[in-house]
Amino acid sequence: MGVFYVTTPLYYVNARPHIGSAYTTIAADVAARYHRLLGDDVFFLTGTDEHGQKIEQQAREAGVSPKELADSVVEKFKETWKMLGITYSHFIRTTDDYHEDAVQYLFKKLMEKGDIYRGTYEGPYCIPCESYHKEEELLDGKLCPNCRREVSILKQENYFFRMSRYQNALIHHFEENKDFVMPESRRNEVLSRIRGGLEDISISRSKFTWGVGVPGDPEQVIWVWFDALINYISALRYPKEFDERFWSEANHLLGKDILWFHACIWPCMLLAADIALPKNLFVHGWWTVKAEKMSKSKGNVVYPEDVVEKYGLDSFRYFIMREIPFGGDGDFTEEALVRRINYDLADDLGNLIQRVGVMLNKYYEGRIPERKSDILCQDSIKLATTTVRNFQRAMERFSFQEALENIWVLIRALNRLVDYAKPWELKKTGEMERLSAVLYTLVEGIRFVSYLVEPFIPTSAQEVRRRISAEGEVGRFSELLQWGRTKPLQTVRVGTILFNKCR
Ligand code: MSP
Repeated sequence: MGVFYVTTPLYYVNARPHIGSAYTTIAADVAARYHRLLGDDVFFLTGTDEHGQKIEQQAREAGVSPKELADSVVEKFKETWKMLGITYSHFIRTTDDYHEDAVQYLFKKLMEKGDIYRGTYEGPYCIPCESYHKEEELLDGKLCPNCRREVSILKQENYFFRMSRYQNALIHHFEENKDFVMPESRRNEVLSRIRGGLEDISISRSKFTWGVGVPGDPEQVIWVWFDALINYISALRYPKEFDERFWSEANHLLGKDILWFHACIWPCMLLAADIALPKNLFVHGWWTVKAEKMSKSKGNVVYPEDVVEKYGLDSFRYFIMREIPFGGDGDFTEEALVRRINYDLADDLGNLIQRVGVMLNKYYEGRIPERKSDILCQDSIKLATTTVRNFQRAMERFSFQEALENIWVLIRALNRLVDYAKPWELKKTGEMERLSAVLYTLVEGIRFVSYLVEPFIPTSAQEVRRRISAEGEVGRFSELLQWGRTKPLQTVRVGTILFNKCR
């Protein structure tokens, strides 16, 4: 049995979840559910990033304390994740005591080691991104290269992290671990920036107070990114009861906008603290809406609850994982969502389940027929086994779109088997052995499909198994997906249509 640790970034509490944050979280959930199916010991971490000037400012404008603002937004996150069927193991808040303790501990440790020192810094600072930038990185000489908002000039006496010291060690790690950052295009992008030279970075602020205090200096709070990144180990009870079994199997999911923090700053912090680096970083692209960036001011933010209310949870989860390759950008439109529901879920998957159920009712009084061997079914049986292999290979690389494409090759092949074998004619001509072989193959194929789609559309997957009396099956993926486990004579239920077509 393996061990699997997956994390999402911690979401800022300045906004409630939208389809962008839902995307990373659903992706992590899919990975966690898949590893549970494999029989792995899974720890799935998500949570909120609550400190910093941005949150302090927003709270002031709303006339509440930063903690009150955070508390109310945390409730919204938890509600939304529940509604989306997110099976996290732990929800961390950067205002949790154990987290703040770990941050201070690590700060002190690096200070004692000489990797944190006091200095003065003056330079362009982006408040929404909570980060300094170099003059030459600014767009049009004044805009943040990340979010394209205007930067402010900040002069501060700060604590600095000696990141420059870890440039070579980090490059070495990238070279020794080719899959450290995926996809490769992101790895190359960040590696060439690291090769361009690492400077020491300012990791404390003195102009506001909403943050974890610098140990021994009441004037300063720790920079929100230095604070937040530590969540990935504080949630595993670093330093006192650090669960290194999970840490050695850490997979961070993140969007392309926060690549630098995760692929450079965080590994340097870990190197400085003598902690192993995470296993993999999977970097995904961004969702736009009708080709535009989502923003509150444009009023084009898409909220998951609205989509789920209109189209159903599994349809949304399926669409968001199927529509774009993990790593690439994608555009959210209702037309694209409706197309996926109609073609993939209703026409392919739903239709297969329905027609097989109806035939079993008609020809076998709602029972599963005997397993027979027939040349007509051989290709489908072979395909089921190769699909499992291809699916697993894709899932290991977080290539969710590819995993789903593979499942749909099998679903379409099973539909073609119905069209080609024409069970209704076999019944008419009395070819009962062949009829039995075909329908058994279809039920067994459907059972396979139900496990493969489970991480993506768990409610529908379970409903499918309930219909073919396989809901009580227990075991690991490798045992469950052995051809021929379906027992003849079990009852089959034909239910309502699984996915309705939309207009
Ligand atoms: N708080 C930091 C992360 C700290 S991790 C130690 C942060 N928060 S965020 O709320 O701004 O973003 C969280 C994640 O949501 C990022 O991975 C970001 O890429 C993702 N997304 C935000 N908008 C998005 C889209 N429109 N599309 C896809 N993902 C997007 O950064």
